[in-house]
Amino acid sequence: MKVAGTHYRTIWVNEDGWSVDLIDQRWLPHELRVENVTSVEGIAAAIRDMWVRGAPLIGVTAAYGVALRMREDPSDAALDAVWEELHETRPTAINLRWALNEMRGLLRGLPENARASAAYKRAAEIADEDVELNRGIGRHGLAIIREIARTKKAGEPVNILTHCNAGWLATVDYGTATSPIYLASEEGVPVHVYVDETRPRNQGAHLTAWEMAGHGVPHTLIVDNAGGHLMQHGMVDMVIVGTDRTTSIGDVCNKIGTYLKALAAKDNGVPFYVALPSPTIDWTVRDGVKEIPIEERSGDEVSLVWGRDEDGRTRQVRISPEATPAGNPAFDVTPARLITGLITERGVAEASEKGLAKLFPEHAKS
Ligand code: MRU
Repeated sequence: MKVAGTHYRTIWVNEDGWSVDLIDQRWLPHELRVENVTSVEGIAAAIRDMWVRGAPLIGVTAAYGVALRMREDPSDAALDAVWEELHETRPTAINLRWALNEMRGLLRGLPENARASAAYKRAAEIADEDVELNRGIGRHGLAIIREIARTKKAGEPVNILTHCNAGWLATVDYGTATSPIYLASEEGVPVHVYVDETRPRNQGAHLTAWEMAGHGVPHTLIVDNAGGHLMQHGMVDMVIVGTDRTTSIGDVCNKIGTYLKALAAKDNGVPFYVALPSPTIDWTVRDGVKEIPIEERSGDEVSLVWGRDEDGRTRQVRISPEATPAGNPAFDVTPARLITGLITERGVAEASEKGLAKLFPEHAKS
């Protein structure tokens, strides 16, 4: 998407032809910093320390990590080792395993001297495919927004609530949950987005709000606990969120707090949609609550808050007693029964085994 007139993706190969440039998202919304990464260790740190984040982008970044390793050492042993090293960076987003499997599956079948160039080519394809998948999600989600817009008085916006950042920063471009929003906004369908701040890391306040402001989409930042109240008062027409892993029966794992939004939406009859590209579906898992590993991150993310002061200094401040321990599960699972529909690149699926199998028959269990 465009930032101050320049089109950016979140990740690309540097003009040297081999190292990887990526937006270091830790500095947003205050600064757009691009980092150059030259090693697998750098790629692993960028994923683990959340310079890049969001399920699709984590997968693409890992694919480039494999390419970097193949350039140094294209052996089978190096391929297996880089798979392990990158796979353990973050446990919940399934796109990481998907991308690593794509890369290893392809490269295993090639002679060693062909692996480095094939790895760069496949990583670039995965990045391009992500952009296309998100465009597809956008088109199908736009139809839903248009439908809701028809029920509103002339000029009244469709009020959409979103949680975390499933925007272009979480993907290579366009985003998943934001793709229909951007298309609606471009088409002139009036939309207004309630942006959950998304504690503890504030991806909503830092990233989604920055995206919405940058692209001229009317939006309001709200605290995570406001959603239920707004829904009770008819102020939310629909919820759209992203996902880090969706199971074969339609359970959705996403940023912590998503489940509570879905409960509030159900109680208030507000449609709750999840936008996802097919690499986010884990066909090996059924019961999301029991089977998806939930990342537990440092309690410091809860006790300490990052911000920038009036003098332009980025600072961290403590908001709880030093002696108070903090727990920090990063994701939760929303059961399929609370979900109105799964917006995929192939269309909108019912959140159920049957619904997903209908759209993705190649994965259906016979
Ligand atoms: O911890 P993060 O910032 O990687 O979590 C991101 C999310 O939960 C997103 O909603 C999800 O990855 C979907 S991104 C298209």
